[in-house]
Amino acid sequence: MRLTKNHFYITAWALIFNFSCSQPSNTNVTSTADSLKIAAVVVPDSAAFKLTVDGKQVGLFVLKNKNNTSVAITNYGGRLVSLLVPDNKGKLTDVILGYDSLKSYQKPKEPYFGAIIGRYGNRIAKGKFSIDGKAYQLDVNDGVNTLHGGFKGFYSRVFTPKQISANELQLTYTSADGEGGYPGHLSVKVTYTLTDDNALKIAYEATTDKPTIVNLTNHAYFNLNGAGSKTITDNLLQINADRFTPVDTTLIPTGKLQNVKSTPFDFITSKAIGTDIGKADEQLKNGKGYDHNFVLNKADIKTIAATVKSTVTGIVMDVYTQEPGLQFYSGNFLTGESHDGKHGAAYGYRSALCLETQHFPDSPNEPSFPSTLLKPNQTYKTTTIYKFSAK
Ligand code: BGC
Repeated sequence: MRLTKNHFYITAWALIFNFSCSQPSNTNVTSTADSLKIAAVVVPDSAAFKLTVDGKQVGLFVLKNKNNTSVAITNYGGRLVSLLVPDNKGKLTDVILGYDSLKSYQKPKEPYFGAIIGRYGNRIAKGKFSIDGKAYQLDVNDGVNTLHGGFKGFYSRVFTPKQISANELQLTYTSADGEGGYPGHLSVKVTYTLTDDNALKIAYEATTDKPTIVNLTNHAYFNLNGAGSKTITDNLLQINADRFTPVDTTLIPTGKLQNVKSTPFDFITSKAIGTDIGKADEQLKNGKGYDHNFVLNKADIKTIAATVKSTVTGIVMDVYTQEPGLQFYSGNFLTGESHDGKHGAAYGYRSALCLETQHFPDSPNEPSFPSTLLKPNQTYKTTTIYKFSAK
């Protein structure tokens, strides 16, 4: 096998990561971090991610393909830290929001930048649900509801990393029975693969020893103009969904499926996100902008679920998923008040968007929605792809 530069960086990092678990003050780490910075221009410094959390070693892993596209991932919350893709002039652009160090990911009220979300993506009304007549109470961490797993969801758990190859990272985590209020030991495996056609593939798997609910997703915040750019309202968005799930004022679905036709939620044909976002509309008011689950016309990994385009960089992102829903969140709760984003950026109001592939919010309490129940002897398996190109 020919040993490429990429192999060298990944292998060197992996060796140092393993070694440093028993030798925390290993000084070689800094020199490896420097190599990574040079190799990938703006990949964050891996030394700033080397920390022990909950007794487990945290680090930063960089996957790279032959086009120089790279993704940096920390096993803390399985978070995507940077994603460098070429723009239409071939210049690498970081398209996701994040921080330069692990410490910032640990701060209270951190908005889930790049995180794996589990056990249940989005909201469960009042944190309550029942399985076979038995009632469960989850952490209530978002007003009266549960959001993104609760107070210590997967976004803040340390996954066990396994570098499979230069372009593939496997992360595993076993969630204890009763963690956050959810029943059953849940064993989770998330595999990130960066392909040579600039696609980031996220494959999720989970098994349980008791009937439980599962809805895993990733909470990357994208700005195709480049992370740190002011707004996403000029990004063009197309969503392959004729319907969406309207919500109440606490962002819990009403249970109805509403046609997007003649509403601001019509993204069947590509349009700038800002086109209708300011319109007087009850649903936009409830979401403070777009913060809604779209019912995808096809839950199929070969069909494009959504496409975002930047008119500034020409970067295009196509989303493919096996999930029935897509949460389009227009960054309405980003405040920009702190400057601790990558390279000192202040991530302001609507400076990024999320396209979270998922089962519908509050499904455990809506029998008409596709089920999120997982039983022992079943395997939860779902894949999402974010594919990049430039025009
Ligand atoms: C939710 C938003 C929430 C955001 C960050 C999104 O998935 O739908 O309501 O504010 O995540 O927490």
